[in-house]
Amino acid sequence: MQPVIEPIEFVEQRRAFSRRRALKWVIRAAYGTFALAFALPALAIRTLTQESKEIAEGDLLVAAAGATAGQPLNAADIPVGTGVQVVPEGKADDTNNNVVIVRLAEGTGEDALVAYSAVCTHLGCIVYADLDENGNIRCPCHLSQFNPREDADVVGGPAPRALPSLPIAVGGNGQITVAGTFSAPVGPD
Ligand code: FES
Repeated sequence: MQPVIEPIEFVEQRRAFSRRRALKWVIRAAYGTFALAFALPALAIRTLTQESKEIAEGDLLVAAAGATAGQPLNAADIPVGTGVQVVPEGKADDTNNNVVIVRLAEGTGEDALVAYSAVCTHLGCIVYADLDENGNIRCPCHLSQFNPREDADVVGGPAPRALPSLPIAVGGNGQITVAGTFSAPVGPD
């Protein structure tokens, strides 16, 4: 059987077509790479922003649990000698943002309302909001106790250090906001 001989112009056309097709693919790949070069950093920044949920100055503190979970507190509604569990609004997912507020006296000053990290410095359990019979903050896991009247110093149990304190402010409407940063790293060392 004799080989088929194509006319030379037909062979040239076919080669030109192949070159055009290859060029199109190269251009498409270049476009894709160019788009990725912009999209990936933007995606990374977006992801980092979404993950950044650390408690911050100005955050509104809302009830962490119960029927009023997610609702702002009115400082006047916290009876003397009691504690409440709060989280910064919209940042409840990070357990390190859990805070316990304790009312020591009437009023809104630093001597009246104190706030501490609710993450135990022993192994990281969340402390009870309710104070124990001695007015101390207590951890349910190994019963460490912290004195809210003395900068949450350890008064019992295995916790190695005090609960970090958190400055708070009370607005004219009674709502409580974060007014600074934790005095020490949150949770176990
Ligand atoms: S985790 Fe709180 S006492 Fe152990």
